[in-house]
Amino acid sequence: MAEEMQKLSIPDLVSMKREGKKISMITAYSYPQGLLVDEAGIDIILVGDSLGMVELGYSGTTPVTMEEMLAHIKPVTRAVKRAHVVGDMPFMSYNVSIEQAITNAGILYKEGACDSIKLEGGQEMAKTIEAIIRAGIPTFGHIGLTPQTAGMLGGFKVQGKSLDAAKKLIDDAIAVDEAGAFAIVLESIPRQLAKIISQKVKAITIGIGAGMECDGQVLVFHDILGLFKRFTPKFVKVYANAWDYELKAIKDFIDEVKEQKFPTDEFTYTMKEDVLNELSKYAGV
Ligand code: KIV
Repeated sequence: MAEEMQKLSIPDLVSMKREGKKISMITAYSYPQGLLVDEAGIDIILVGDSLGMVELGYSGTTPVTMEEMLAHIKPVTRAVKRAHVVGDMPFMSYNVSIEQAITNAGILYKEGACDSIKLEGGQEMAKTIEAIIRAGIPTFGHIGLTPQTAGMLGGFKVQGKSLDAAKKLIDDAIAVDEAGAFAIVLESIPRQLAKIISQKVKAITIGIGAGMECDGQVLVFHDILGLFKRFTPKFVKVYANAWDYELKAIKDFIDEVKEQKFPTDEFTYTMKEDVLNELSKYAGV
């Protein structure tokens, strides 16, 4: 009998931090992407609100709605057997009140069938995180550059470079950790600050533009595969030029259709000669 794939639990992920084993995380937004990254052996999959930019054509993450998040979380959770799947809470789905945050976290967790939810913010979100966890939903924090409120931070810039800004980010990390988040994304901060935070908190730290000393690393699916051409931040390493590869395949298909090179017999159904003769008489052609 085929062995059932074992789902990675939160205690499994936490023990990886304790044992100094690095944690890999990537975004995914669809059933085939979920299948692909799970088969590759990724530890955590984030159905991120980066969805807005890389899949839905928005200029940022703020327009993304709960309905859109849910529509993309569901196929990913249907695909994944091993990885821990995180559903991202879209802007304004948790910022109005604690009650609103619990309700919407519940919708993503229950209807989306994800393993945890993620929200952005530091000290100001600690009570919200605590309340969502008290309601029974594992929660992932996200501090540093928080894209949903990047306008308030002066744009998409590295955070925590000055002494005061770095102290505030340490306080943010501690607040999110003490609120009970099991993991925290550290986005676009100096590696030395990420190292201090990673040593100080119990939570797993997952860096994106935060250097090697985090407990794990996350990148966006489309960035790793060279599928998003609009811009590539400094922290992105492109591991494959899938766009160029796919573009060539589609162009080859177009050319073969135009030049009547496809479909050849290999890709075609035929019928027996006697049936064809009768059919031709019937059709008069
Ligand atoms: O939405 C997202 O993809 C994210 C990651 C970049 C961490 O929040």
